Amino acid sequence: MLRLKRIIPMLMALLMLTLALYPGHGQANAQSASSTDEKRTLTIGLSPDFAPYEFLMTVDGKSKVVGSDVMIAEEIAKDMGAELVIREMSFDSLIPALQSGRIDMIISGMTPTDERRQNVDFSDLYYTSRQVILTRSEDVDKYKTMDALQGEQIGVQTGSIQEEIANGIPDAQVTAVKTISDVVSLLSSDRVNAAVFEGPVAEAQVKNRPGIAIAEAVPEDSDTPMAIAVQKGNTELVNEINVTLERLRATNAVDGFIQQANELNSGETAPSNIFSFFWKYRGFYADGVKYTLLLSALGVLFGFLIGLLIALLRLSSVKILKWIAITYIEVLRGTPMLVQLLIIHFGLASAFDIKFSVLQSGIITLSLNSSAYLAEIFRAGIQNVDKGQMEAARSLGMPRGMAMRTIIIPQAIKGVLPAIGNEFVVIIKESSIVSFIGVADLMFQANAVRTLTYSGLYPLVIAAGIYLIMTLILSKLLNVLERRLSAGDSR
Ligand code: ARG
Repeated sequence: MLRLKRIIPMLMALLMLTLALYPGHGQANAQSASSTDEKRTLTIGLSPDFAPYEFLMTVDGKSKVVGSDVMIAEEIAKDMGAELVIREMSFDSLIPALQSGRIDMIISGMTPTDERRQNVDFSDLYYTSRQVILTRSEDVDKYKTMDALQGEQIGVQTGSIQEEIANGIPDAQVTAVKTISDVVSLLSSDRVNAAVFEGPVAEAQVKNRPGIAIAEAVPEDSDTPMAIAVQKGNTELVNEINVTLERLRATNAVDGFIQQANELNSGETAPSNIFSFFWKYRGFYADGVKYTLLLSALGVLFGFLIGLLIALLRLSSVKILKWIAITYIEVLRGTPMLVQLLIIHFGLASAFDIKFSVLQSGIITLSLNSSAYLAEIFRAGIQNVDKGQMEAARSLGMPRGMAMRTIIIPQAIKGVLPAIGNEFVVIIKESSIVSFIGVADLMFQANAVRTLTYSGLYPLVIAAGIYLIMTLILSKLLNVLERRLSAGDSR
């Protein structure tokens, strides 16, 4: 049993190592110098798939959010004397993030619609653009009028006004996806035949991706304005924002920003060979791996502790405790982890004002989820320990709890070590869902590279390769550990 005691320090060491590698802030892209405590911060949310308004660029091997909206936000922060912090997330997560107070404002090419006005307040308008129809180059002549789009397959970004426009086209079959680059992929892979786009965004895409073009058809009411969203009732911030917007309007600055942004967006030339591709974006992947390791290590560690507790409750002779444990296990195993993540991150914030950071929400979800599986593993392990062990301990006069702690549980854990190892492997892979709420893990970074390079395959294949390497190394380590432990047995 001595050897088991070594596992805990080993786990701890692993944890320390991960913590040491971890840069210290849990959010994606806090793009600013370290803050002095007195300085006010202005945290903005955006979906950086919307060149020229907001998009990613590689600077020294790392991703940087740039674009005209970012330039406007910088001006606002400057006028406020605040430090700008940028949080990247999907477009449809922006309003929930604002409502739950995780960001101070949204500047993401957002149109102030009546529906949105019910949930958030908007600044003055800062830009107006028109809507266009994007299609494959060979099809441009097909869509000269909006009537030609009836019954067509149309792609849009989830939660955008383009989605509403597309839904308004008679008989259209609308496919909604998370990012603008996914919409263009739908188009290039023939899954949809047309897409509704904001004019300048469509132009930026046409410039960088071959094979797509803007059609003649123009959606009705095609002029759509943009404004900055703040939490409902935050008139103070709206006023501050409006002062800056007014100043920018006086010099026509926004047009200049858009032009500058268009120049920046010259399109990354991604290497055509997967190895140089990986090398060019290694900084992204390295950052992602740190978060993935941190999340999985903490998820399994807390999952281990909570799971052990639940297993003991599950085996308790007190009926109510037993039922609590069974419900816990069934609920967590019987619902998708993504749903659990969203409830913990957004649900708790809006219903009970419990606001975890993205990293905290990620760790909590992974811990709870794996604890349910680990509880069942422990239960099997404990039940597998010969009944005679407990009887012998009891007849020696040991109290039940002590016998459990010192005799049964150590043997049980040793017996189920391979199963625990498996759970670790599972968590490494499953942790990829936290990218959904914006934890900058490996999956998140792979998506960033995907948006950045307009390349559909390599960023994901590289991520898959890295996940595979991590799980293979872990399995190897676990094998060694297991062999050591069983060697201890035969002595
Ligand atoms: N203007 C449109 C809207 O408000 C689309 C904005 C999409 N923005 C983005 N960053 N992807 O729905």
